[in-house]
Amino acid sequence: MKIDGRSYRTIWPGADGRSVEVIDQILLPHEFATRRIATLEEAAEAIRSMVVRGAPLIGVTAAYGLWFGLRDDASDSALDEAVRLLGATRPTAVNLAWALARVERRVRPLAPADRAAAAFAEAGAIADEDVACCHSIGVHGAELIEAVHRRTGRVVNILTHCNAGWLATVDWGTALAPIYVAQEAGIPVHVWVDETRPRNQGAALTAFELGAHGVPHTVIVDNAGGHLMQHGMVDLCIVGTDRTTARGDVANKIGTYLKALAAQDNGVPFYVALPSSTVDWSLEDGVREIPIEERSEREVTHMTGAREDGTLATVRIAAPGSPAANPAFDVTPARLVTALITERGITPASPEGLLALFPERKAA
Ligand code: MRU
Repeated sequence: MKIDGRSYRTIWPGADGRSVEVIDQILLPHEFATRRIATLEEAAEAIRSMVVRGAPLIGVTAAYGLWFGLRDDASDSALDEAVRLLGATRPTAVNLAWALARVERRVRPLAPADRAAAAFAEAGAIADEDVACCHSIGVHGAELIEAVHRRTGRVVNILTHCNAGWLATVDWGTALAPIYVAQEAGIPVHVWVDETRPRNQGAALTAFELGAHGVPHTVIVDNAGGHLMQHGMVDLCIVGTDRTTARGDVANKIGTYLKALAAQDNGVPFYVALPSSTVDWSLEDGVREIPIEERSEREVTHMTGAREDGTLATVRIAAPGSPAANPAFDVTPARLVTALITERGITPASPEGLLALFPERKAA
């Protein structure tokens, strides 16, 4: 997608043939800078510190991380250790484990001398497939937006939470892909952007990428969504997910569940957009089984922003000494999800719905 008229992906191989370049998402929206990652430890740290974030992008970064690790030491034990190190960086998004397992499957049968090159090729394939999947999600999801426009004849108001745009993937995004595709097709859209405390991925990242791409949007505090829905100001919600169970429960950024409850109470359709790499086919009950990342108290008690002169400042916003809790994700049960938007089409959030689109999983 575009920034200042120039097309970017969020991650791409460096010109030196030994690194990848990423957009440093910690600095956005105040500064646009890229960062070079060239070692296993740097890849792990970029994921842990959220220089890169968003389920699909975490997976691709980890895949390249294995390339770096295998370049230094391609033994079985080094491969085990690299998978363990990268896999421990963030627990909720299953794309991380999925991408690591995929690269591992590809390289383990090979002679050590061939493993690094194969990991590089596989990471590139995962990145390219993510772009194709996200574009397909966009094409399918845009039909839902177009249907609202056909029915009402006016601007379609969409509410989204966190950042499930192109910055969270390699390109296009998941929840935002249908919006980009709809806008390209000439359908008038407007996006309500939940600020998404504590790290404000909505206010910082979703607003940034929608603005850079010329999509009309308005940032709202996290608690405004229910009010807007009660007043008919939201036609549909579209969010992303970090892990979806085989029965269609979805883990996404903390606060998603409350939006789904408000949507159900107000008859607003609540869609979840995901590539199939986000489905954890081994789990059923998301509330009980999906591991929820607990992050630092400091993300709750402090905030970083730009002063009027553009310099960054971090300030404490909570009472000194008060403890804080920071669960980073919550689980929305399938019963609150109107449908899942995947690269293969739109399907009910149910075991039957998922298996109808991914029949190959029946045998698995
Ligand atoms: O903690 P983050 O910023 O990695 O969380 C990201 C989200 O919750 C996204 O909505 C999610 O990854 C959906 S995938 C595009």
